[in-house]
Amino acid sequence: MKPLFSSSVLDWFDLHGRKNLPWQRVKSVYNVWISEIMLQQTQVATVIPYYQRFMQSFPDVSALADASLDDVLSHWAGLGYYARARNLHRAAQMIRDDYALEFPRDIDHVIDLPGIGKSTAGAILSLALNQKHAILDGNVKRVLARYHRIEGWAGHTRVLNQYWQYAERYTPLNRVADYNQAMMDLGSMVCTRSQPQCERCPLNRSCEAHRYQQESSFPLPRPKKPQLIKQTKMLMLCNEQNNVLIQQRPPVGIWGGLWSLPECAPDEDIYAFVETHFGQKIKTITEWETVRHTFSHFHLDITPIKAVVDDPVSRVMEADASVWYNTEPTKKKQHRGFAAPVKRLLERLEMQFQDQSQNEIRREYE
Ligand code: ADE
Repeated sequence: MKPLFSSSVLDWFDLHGRKNLPWQRVKSVYNVWISEIMLQQTQVATVIPYYQRFMQSFPDVSALADASLDDVLSHWAGLGYYARARNLHRAAQMIRDDYALEFPRDIDHVIDLPGIGKSTAGAILSLALNQKHAILDGNVKRVLARYHRIEGWAGHTRVLNQYWQYAERYTPLNRVADYNQAMMDLGSMVCTRSQPQCERCPLNRSCEAHRYQQESSFPLPRPKKPQLIKQTKMLMLCNEQNNVLIQQRPPVGIWGGLWSLPECAPDEDIYAFVETHFGQKIKTITEWETVRHTFSHFHLDITPIKAVVDDPVSRVMEADASVWYNTEPTKKKQHRGFAAPVKRLLERLEMQFQDQSQNEIRREYE
């Protein structure tokens, strides 16, 4: 049973597996580590350009460890799950300080690095060094859940242990790198969440879910819990020079370390809020349409408020890591990591400023 499973998967890999991804071309532990972190919650096609830009700026552990967190986060902007970038940066510093810049080879040491769990550690060491470790990411779980019709949700320890037992049982002694890559590829290319292509699967003759035509019933989903909706007002505080006030978020929590806009509660009086926190009087105020940003645990309904103040830059209090940010492309000197919806709002604001200045030029000529 065991050799049949892994040899079928490996034979399929030889014909159909991915062998030419950017992090497979020059295979180093560093390259594989970065790619595995990016791939944790993101698909291959999305990751590729981010990976390439990241590698250009941070070609090795030393470059990453010595970079500023802001610089690392700016390379992550748009990929989501920013804790990954913060952990990557912290792990690089640990590898520099505790391991003399050599990525650890022992799986327990790798798991001790921030942001690396058992499956990611197994993936890094097996894919880069062919060490024999099982992996269990979402794709592999789906293959195993269907193959064995595993009941229960993998978030429960008892069920998760069952998954690990199967994953370890099938991991072969030889060609572990190819086998683990094959399992991930099989999960993402053939044994897909919806409409799996069972006719192309090397395991279809012994897959239990396939035998009972129950592919869509496995893996079992997370038990439902109510979807929470939170509301906030995001303030685009602008001055007459087309600057907008931005603030850096605290290092932990939602969008930790990223740049964002001041926020206040939905029922807060904006005039009073701006006067109290920024010592400014609002000249004009415009409410934009509410936009929804969805996190893994809740929706955030954001109502953007554009408030123009006429005071010069210098009068704004410099509290809470606030800075005036100029949206004109030529004046954007610093790369900053912005929270995704904030980036979109700033782009819209920039377009408004451009229209406004074009209208002003037109008026001058009329
Ligand atoms: N998902 C996580 N790791 C991956 C990899 N190495 N190849 C394809 N998909 C993945």
